Amino acid sequence: MHIAISGATGFVGRRLAGELTAEGHSILKLGRGANGAGQRRWDPVAGEPDLQIAPPLDAIVHLAGEPVSQRWNDDVKRRIRDSRVLGTRNLVGAIGKLAVKPRVLVSASAVGLYGERGDQILDERAAPASGFLADVCREWEEEADKAAAFGVRVVKIRIGLVLGKDGGALAKMLLPFRLGLGAKLGDGSQWMSWIHLDDLTGMMRYALSHEAVHGAWNGVAPNPVTNAVFTQELAAAVHRPAWFAAPRFLIEMGAGEMAQILFFSQRCAPAAALEAGFRFRYPELGGALRAVVS
Ligand SMILES: NC(=O)c1ccc[n+]([C@@H]2O[C@H](COP(=O)([O-])OP(=O)(O)OC[C@H]3O[C@@H](n4cnc5c(N)ncnc54)[C@H](OP(=O)(O)O)[C@@H]3O)[C@@H](O)[C@H]2O)c1
Repeated sequence: MHIAISGATGFVGRRLAGELTAEGHSILKLGRGANGAGQRRWDPVAGEPDLQIAPPLDAIVHLAGEPVSQRWNDDVKRRIRDSRVLGTRNLVGAIGKLAVKPRVLVSASAVGLYGERGDQILDERAAPASGFLADVCREWEEEADKAAAFGVRVVKIRIGLVLGKDGGALAKMLLPFRLGLGAKLGDGSQWMSWIHLDDLTGMMRYALSHEAVHGAWNGVAPNPVTNAVFTQELAAAVHRPAWFAAPRFLIEMGAGEMAQILFFSQRCAPAAALEAGFRFRYPELGGALRAVVS
């Protein structure tokens, strides 16, 4: 297949592009710094990408977006929203102008859609929440869905905390845990929906190649855990204790509004993926963490 990937320079996109290339697909990387063969320059907020290319695209994977894990102010929030909502609108606008449309659009979304949900088990039918991140995710998905009007199959993957080597949130957590300074966040009761990077890219490849897959998939492993359990499992994976608890008010003082990513409880289930026959390589957190830290 001829597949365009936006955000191909990122943590998920780099791995996905490598795997698809190894499978024999031809990849067009869309990005702000793109330059050279197999790449095309596109700033998602600046306008529509040029998708006129021979042979025509069979598929698009859309991952681009301003990082969410940084201190938020009005400008950062605008970039987080615009890079996703306007960016997806621009991408779908360009798809609409193509004489030969791609057959499928796989678009990133996030479990942030669900907001704060306590112990509730959330499959893809759970209602979205409201609030800054939930609203961004809902609007991001609504823009992606508009590609369906052009006969494109749309799959939205509501991604949880991605665990992989060389990037993502775990890269930042590893040093304190390796020093024996790992700590649960607040009382640790908040649920964390995580997924190993291999399973996330596996889901994306599954969505690309299975014509029956469409709509929303929770991009999470089947066994979410509380933050307290995550803390103990990560400490065990690096063979260190984790005795501490980081007080919530201190984290909120340091991280500001963004701290909600760390404290919102989201106990998501990958119901749609399991129903479609997707098999997880890392269904349990312990195995996923050992694979990442080894
Ligand atoms: N990693 C996670 O745990 C996680 C969890 C939930 C959801 N997600 C979502 O999954 C997608 C991929 O995640 P990732 O971890 O691979 O992200 P990442 O490493 O931050 O990469 C995202 C890519 O988006 C592009 N980008 C960054 N800022 C941008 C901006 N202001 N405007 C337009 N493009 C921008 C960059 O590509 P160029 O520089 O090449 O343009 C970057 O490589 C993101 O949309 C993210 O929100 C990830």
